[in-house]
Amino acid sequence: RSYFHLFFGPAFRLTSRFPEAFEICKEFRIGREKMLQIANALTKEIQLGLARETHPQAIVKCFLTYIQDLPTGRERGKFMALDLGGTNFRCLLVNLTDGAVMQSTLKSFAISEELMQGPGTDLFDFIAECLAGFCKEQNIGNDRIPLGFTFSFPLQQIGINKGILRRWTKGFRCEGVEGKDVVELLQSAIDRRGDVNVKIVAILNDSTSTLVSCAYSHPDCRIGLIVGTGVNACYVEQTSKAEMLDGYESSQKPIMIINTELGAFGDNGSLDSVRTVYDKTLDIESVNPGSQTLEKCVSGMYLGEVVRHILLDLMRMGVLFRGMRPDEMQTKWIFRTRFISEIESDPPEVFHNARVVLYHLGIKTDDLNDMACLRYICDSISLRSAQLTSCAIVAMINQMNVESCTVAIDGGLCRYHPHYRNLIEQQMSILLKNASAYKIVLSEDGSGLGAALVAAAFANK
Ligand code: GLC
Repeated sequence: RSYFHLFFGPAFRLTSRFPEAFEICKEFRIGREKMLQIANALTKEIQLGLARETHPQAIVKCFLTYIQDLPTGRERGKFMALDLGGTNFRCLLVNLTDGAVMQSTLKSFAISEELMQGPGTDLFDFIAECLAGFCKEQNIGNDRIPLGFTFSFPLQQIGINKGILRRWTKGFRCEGVEGKDVVELLQSAIDRRGDVNVKIVAILNDSTSTLVSCAYSHPDCRIGLIVGTGVNACYVEQTSKAEMLDGYESSQKPIMIINTELGAFGDNGSLDSVRTVYDKTLDIESVNPGSQTLEKCVSGMYLGEVVRHILLDLMRMGVLFRGMRPDEMQTKWIFRTRFISEIESDPPEVFHNARVVLYHLGIKTDDLNDMACLRYICDSISLRSAQLTSCAIVAMINQMNVESCTVAIDGGLCRYHPHYRNLIEQQMSILLKNASAYKIVLSEDGSGLGAALVAAAFANK
């Protein structure tokens, strides 16, 4: 399916049947010129984040990761990874031999809303408890296993295993963690138990883990991008530009991965020209108003909620679903971003998944036009998200000034949306002359191979 079907396919039908919906979706379109402007503005913000003088006020923080080498393929031994950053928490045990992952075991645990919003000590005790159970199951015994901790929040790192949480994102707001060293909090929760012999040797972001794991098989990987619950990216920068690093001028190592935290792009108004009234309502109702502006236009936590607001508006006008207004639709977050992926997975002119989703929302309809309209709305929201993601990739390519590279992507939208990745490729080819030189690869991170590789690199340091 091409991007043009949005404008020349169902759009024709919509303009006559649902002019109101068509008008709303029009507000979500971004033209090429605007996209280029956004990419340029983001490159500038990245530079402000990197420079010592402007960093304190910068919106796009560009945190140091202290990772200055990509994997060599010679990593070997047993390593663990923990992954906290969304609705699940995961433990991973990896056995690496020369250039290959011999074996890996993964266990996932759900993070309840109470944990996400309760005291930080509860969260870290819970993680330590899951880790202890996992180690027992894996018969880890007394070996002291190096662990890489993927912690996917804005972390100001002051070393490879030292990082201060600047602020929570993605619905987390555990007390007593912002401003603290997260490694210390988790290591003491682990040590307090006395039954696990694990040392956290590295802390990193999910985008960093994605880049590192992809670089294991694609040595020219230079960007790691997540579009999941949140959105963020990291890229490979010259150390000489990482001014926040002490001794950056004389550093022996030429590169460092930079965790941009670009989900915050727009917090100073630089995305105002593409934000709609729906984005603004969502922001006001969120737990972090005014923060993570790009993230709220792009990522999985929010897209479904944007669709819900649009549907509510159209239902209020009485133009969709024959004026039905079920209570379910009043429930915040009920329209999951997963539904967008499901609706867009239906073949053209087939509305099987759309019908199931609507039924779940208390809307019983067989009207194909209603369902076509719903799909058109989902298409428009996904397209804008992919457009902004493409701008972000182009901004980093411009900053690195590379002619070609691999871009590792991961996260729910990249993995489960039926054509998100195609949309990114299409949009990049609109923005760049040599777009095919930048290969988009879905990372096989498996929730932490990258973290295990980084743990391997820092195990004996
Ligand atoms: C949020 C976090 C960021 C993370 C991203 C994707 O933007 O602040 O650290 O990488 O979500 O999970």
